[in-house]
Amino acid sequence: MNPPPEPIGGARLLFSLDPAVAYLNHGSFGAVPVPVQRAQQRLRDEMESNPQRFYTTGLWERIGHARTHLSEFLGADPAGTAFVANATAAISIVLRSLALAAGDEIITTNHGYGSVDLAVDHMCARTGATHTIVPLPLSASDDDIVAAVSNAMTIGRTRLVIVDHVASETARVMPVARLAATARVRGVPILVDAAHAPGAHAMRIDAINADFWVGNLHKWLFAPRSTAILSVAERWRDRIEPPIVSWADLDGYPANLEMGGTLDYTPWLAAPTGLYVLRTLGVDRVRSHNAVLAAYGQRVIGAALGLLSTSELPMPGGVTPSMRVLPLPSHVARTHADAVALRTRIAEELRVVVPIPSWHGQGLLRLSAQVYNHADEYDRLAAGLTRVLAALR
Ligand SMILES: Cc1ncc(COP(=O)(O)O)c(C=O)c1O
Repeated sequence: MNPPPEPIGGARLLFSLDPAVAYLNHGSFGAVPVPVQRAQQRLRDEMESNPQRFYTTGLWERIGHARTHLSEFLGADPAGTAFVANATAAISIVLRSLALAAGDEIITTNHGYGSVDLAVDHMCARTGATHTIVPLPLSASDDDIVAAVSNAMTIGRTRLVIVDHVASETARVMPVARLAATARVRGVPILVDAAHAPGAHAMRIDAINADFWVGNLHKWLFAPRSTAILSVAERWRDRIEPPIVSWADLDGYPANLEMGGTLDYTPWLAAPTGLYVLRTLGVDRVRSHNAVLAAYGQRVIGAALGLLSTSELPMPGGVTPSMRVLPLPSHVARTHADAVALRTRIAEELRVVVPIPSWHGQGLLRLSAQVYNHADEYDRLAAGLTRVLAALR
């Protein structure tokens, strides 16, 4: 078995995480480094010291600087990029901007995020459009994925394809640039749900060249929560419908989307500090640490589950995946309620926090690896998991 990576010295101390708990779920909500928490608190102190000055003197220039800085790191055109609260908000904004009508179709895949499917269903119910879900097995290759999604598109009828950059439940890294290219050839708009991508992998939004791209910065880019980016191709910018009509209504995209009245904008202003922390640790070093540790965790827990050959371990694709999944025995976590019960037992009995997706009836265990994790945390889960599973019989 390949060894785990060399720990990144002192990295754990950058986080407020409970030292008694093995926190193997960076993917769901992130964990904000202490320097970023401090930066945000200092901005809040500044805001409270003189709210009028904070909101009326240079706030939008400061937000513009933060947006430009982060866009450059992500390879996006700053003029096409808007801060939004999160991926959920961004996807609803795009769906409402499409002016769907009866007979139109939206395509997603069975790796897609649950609330995104709900948002699509909601828009379809209101407009008479239909929702097609393309089934992709856990073991699908990049070629299989591109072929299945391309074959599902109907020119003139498919009004949007939504694909995940990194799927939440299965951790599959999708071939999004190839999918965007094939959608472009067919004239079908595509939205890349990259909730997990910023910071996690080397990628450029302009190289993916999708119509819409949305990514959370609060996961792998260490930003405070409520910080995400929506990047929109030039041809769509005038058609983006802000959900809130604000003072910036006549200013066009992205200002009309970002401004929502008197909100707390400190997460966006503190977000560059998250990038600073990542760069200080070393972007490539962090990515390779996390990828090697996630692979180690998958192997060691796979061995405890009796999954000994690498062919039994789902491969996430992509170059530096920081999340990996393991299939659980077929009687385990077949429903969402059973999955939550198992997750709770693992947290209480093993002091390990790990999500258990019930992916279309297949129980999965999703491991994240971040700079604060150590190999012994995955060893602890491996040592206790079979006992917890045996108690479920
Ligand atoms: C693929 C995907 N899309 C959308 C979301 C929703 O993100 P948020 O809750 O930050 O809006 C998530 C959350 O993890 C996700 O994994």
